[in-house]
Amino acid sequence: MPRTVLIVDDERDVNDILASLVRAHDFEAIQRFEGATVMDDVRALQPDLILLDLMLPDRDGFEICEQLKRNRETNLIPVVMVTSLNDPHHRLTGVRVGANGYLTKPFTPHQLFEAIDAALTWRDEHASQGTTGEINFDVRSELTYLQQTNDMLADLYLHTPLTERQVKDLKQVVMEMGGNAIEWGHRKNAELTVRITYRIDPEKVTLIIKDQGPGFNPGQVPHAASDDDPIGHLDVRNELGIREGGFGIMLAKGLVDDFHYNESGNQVTLIKRFKQ
Ligand SMILES: Nc1ncnc2c1ncn2[C@@H]1O[C@H](COP(=O)(O)OP(=O)(O)OP(=O)(O)O)[C@@H](O)[C@H]1O
Ligand SMILES: [Mg+2]
Repeated sequence: MPRTVLIVDDERDVNDILASLVRAHDFEAIQRFEGATVMDDVRALQPDLILLDLMLPDRDGFEICEQLKRNRETNLIPVVMVTSLNDPHHRLTGVRVGANGYLTKPFTPHQLFEAIDAALTWRDEHASQGTTGEINFDVRSELTYLQQTNDMLADLYLHTPLTERQVKDLKQVVMEMGGNAIEWGHRKNAELTVRITYRIDPEKVTLIIKDQGPGFNPGQVPHAASDDDPIGHLDVRNELGIREGGFGIMLAKGLVDDFHYNESGNQVTLIKRFKQ
């Protein structure tokens, strides 16, 4: 099957030139002249590559690119931006919205195919190895910051094979365990930071949540629920005058594929594996 390139450019001349150039290189060219239908076209056609003009009459190309990259059905399709806007600011915006290449008009055929090759290589590497890497977030001990970090993490999950269900689980687990770090580890001292490490490798996403508190012994928490007796601890909490609850750890354990504390109990590791 020939590889397909979706060309979105309202300037008919440019669109035709792009089409004949890619056809000469054994690609199938699909031509569109407006932005409105791009999302639907991409979903339906699943092209191997998109050449996207930034100055469409009806829609902003940056916006289209961002939308494509935020959507898990379309985010692995490489996007090369084709534009007459050649200033660093626009290039930077292109990078920020996840474009895989940037081609400035007028361009030579050689430049076009360099950009196409680079974009396809990106896609192949992504498909064969997935992404591997690690990012750390140091979060002030306040729930609003934890929430913001959790939203940023959710953006990162979009670039992984995690299913929507798995993403929902992870978001909940990070709130529970980040909440524990703030409430119990740091006793709500906002000045202390919780370190959240996000790591991705070909099989899984790992999150590590570490606080600066003294830790605890997870094997001995009489005021927390356990799998064999989920409500027995409620009386203990009542006697100790601790707020209602005690379900966080039990809940979190059930929502990830691996869950363990370090020896001192101030760092918890959470793993979600990609489904085959
Ligand atoms: N990072 C931590 N540092 C110190 N103690 C912790 C830490 N995380 C949990 N704990 C202890 O473990 C107990 C159980 O935590 P768990 O999240 O299961 O329940 P909870 O936070 O008390 O209530 P809930 O999460 O249901 O609102 C906490 O009450 C606390 O005593
Ligand atoms: Mg908790």
